[in-house]
Amino acid sequence: MDGITDAPMRAFQGAQNTFTHSVTEFIRVSNHPLPIRVFVRDVPELATQAKTTTGLPVQIQILGGDPDRMAISAQNAVAAGATAIDINFGCPAPTVNRNDGGASILRCSQRVYEITKAVRDALPKSIPVSVKARLGWDTIEPIYENAEQIQRAGASWLTIHARTKTQGYNPPVYWKPIGEIRRNASIPIVANGDIWSIEDFYLCQDQTGCAHFMIGRAALANPNLPHQIAQSLGLQPTTPLLPVNWPELLQKFHDHSTDFHGPNHPKSLNRLKQWLAIAARFGDFPHFANLKNIPNHPDFMTTLTTLCQIQTTWTSEKLVAISPH
Ligand SMILES: Cc1cc2nc3c(=O)[nH]c(=O)nc-3n(C[C@H](O)[C@H](O)[C@H](O)COP(=O)(O)O)c2cc1C
Repeated sequence: MDGITDAPMRAFQGAQNTFTHSVTEFIRVSNHPLPIRVFVRDVPELATQAKTTTGLPVQIQILGGDPDRMAISAQNAVAAGATAIDINFGCPAPTVNRNDGGASILRCSQRVYEITKAVRDALPKSIPVSVKARLGWDTIEPIYENAEQIQRAGASWLTIHARTKTQGYNPPVYWKPIGEIRRNASIPIVANGDIWSIEDFYLCQDQTGCAHFMIGRAALANPNLPHQIAQSLGLQPTTPLLPVNWPELLQKFHDHSTDFHGPNHPKSLNRLKQWLAIAARFGDFPHFANLKNIPNHPDFMTTLTTLCQIQTTWTSEKLVAISPH
């Protein structure tokens, strides 16, 4: 996710040992093919067999509308060390769409085919090429034809975000079409969109029949969810989960940011705030208003720890009060 799943976040998620796969933020191919040095700069994991130092495989995502430039960029990504390429046909950002990239390509299934085929044909067969798509531009129907073209072009798997471009990130999500496509598909289909809780996950699993799932925002809003899903898929032993320890998680993420950016880099603190903003907006993290203006990391962590302790004490007192036996 652009601005979120950068190298420190990928390293952090790798250490959590829940995800089996990660994808970079989209890397945009504009008027020229991207050179090797761009991939080396943006994706440090390419120096370590395209895995984070914490062991999580990282796939490079490229975005653009010109088949040749996309193909050459993909070749350069592989020359830089990429082991898998993903093509973005999902981004709804107006600047991206105006410049012929992301979800705007979904309006023409022939272009979906040509871009996917050009990238696929440019790379050795050992390098998977996958596609990330929305259902369509302003209706859900285009996904049926687009999914066929993506398979015909030789994609290795297809991830579907269960919304149209015009929906942006608004509800509802339409998981059922993903199920219809999966039933007829010859490649794995990955279900994505609005899996916020384990109940959502079961519903999505039920409606799509998928064996593969992509989780975005909820990995930050509800950090226990990836563990719950991994347990449900048999990827982790089933053990009771402890309540989320926010100070511990955020300190670990900050350590990865510091490894990457160096000590006291403003970006590291900003990323903690960005995480908690998502947790407050989409999850039940209650303290963001008290934290967002704190200007330095030590004060931020001290306040976070204090607020979380108060909340834990309050919660246990309340539990005792309502359950005296
Ligand atoms: C801030 C933000 C940035 C995103 N950037 C990307 C991106 O670079 N590439 C991509 O394929 N999807 C991107 N997405 C879409 C997510 O991958 C995902 O499809 C979407 O958030 C729905 O999944 P979720 O409900 O689990 O978050 C982004 C989403 C958000 C909110």
